[in-house]
Amino acid sequence: MGSTLDVKGGARKEKRKLRNLVRRKALKESRKSKLATEHPLPDAPGPSADGSTKKKKKNRGKKKMFLKLEAKAQEMGVPVENLIEKKEDSMLKRLEGGRFRYLNEKLYTMTGEEAKQMFEEDPEAFDQYHSGYRDQAKRWPLNPVNVIIQQLRTKADLVIADMGCGDAKIAEVLGAHNTVHSFDLVAKKPGVVACEMSHVPLEKDTCDVVVFCLSLMGTNVNEYLREAHRILKMGGDLRIAEVCSRFDNVRAFMRAVSHMGFEFKTSKTMQDYFVLFHFKKAGKVEHKRPSGLTLKPCLYKKR
Ligand SMILES: C[S@@+](CC[C@H](N)C(=O)[O-])C[C@H]1O[C@@H](n2cnc3c(N)ncnc32)[C@H](O)[C@@H]1O
Repeated sequence: MGSTLDVKGGARKEKRKLRNLVRRKALKESRKSKLATEHPLPDAPGPSADGSTKKKKKNRGKKKMFLKLEAKAQEMGVPVENLIEKKEDSMLKRLEGGRFRYLNEKLYTMTGEEAKQMFEEDPEAFDQYHSGYRDQAKRWPLNPVNVIIQQLRTKADLVIADMGCGDAKIAEVLGAHNTVHSFDLVAKKPGVVACEMSHVPLEKDTCDVVVFCLSLMGTNVNEYLREAHRILKMGGDLRIAEVCSRFDNVRAFMRAVSHMGFEFKTSKTMQDYFVLFHFKKAGKVEHKRPSGLTLKPCLYKKR
């Protein structure tokens, strides 16, 4: 599949390339600047027909960057290598941010099955996605997973299915007094079961609560909700947290969920950024693919 191959193309390779490039550049520039002070060169010649002017301009740019770093290092009284390392780190961070945004966009534009295949073919991509996600989540004043935990905390002996659990925080906090089944495409924490959440290894009518916290990412949302309906007991809770900007029409979404056998209970907006829904399983699935379920991808901004 083209898309998965793109992903496999490799942040590792890019990182290695980048590190080598910065190191080579730094070495070259340090040699050059030494030479330049020992044997000053005459002024640069004018443009030549063979395109070497461009190359020279580029080299001048690199040299300028290095000289700037060198001057700053002198000013700070630290070896220039320290600043080169810092520069490398910030370039790497930018690269990692780009990689996270790329994977994130992929997850919102493919089915759950395709996402599973993507991570099977490129296991590193899962860690890269999650480390980027954690970075993003650190900046939020309130994380919806903590709100859901608070909502469920007052109860005990529940059977909870955490669909797309990530770091499995619900199991970590509520696991002592409840049975929490944590599902994700890759199992990175003990207790997490690796599976695609439209087919989880649970019997029908066995759960009191099903949670989708920012995990309705694939294009097959209707299949996720059908699976939630299958495993929930009648009267069981469906809790969904999503980013507000993903909805074109919240009412249409709520109507569509109710066509899938759920009764709307409450919705709550958090800081105009997240919305939390509470539904109850109330009947049969009337429509397997109701309109209104389509959610827009949540794309993170470059920082
Ligand atoms: C944005 S993270 C949120 C993680 C966690 N629910 C939380 O709130 O901290 C979404 C998670 O859903 C998982 N996910 C997305 N689609 C999935 C699918 N079809 N099956 C299982 N997990 C899925 C992703 O791998 C990711 O770990």
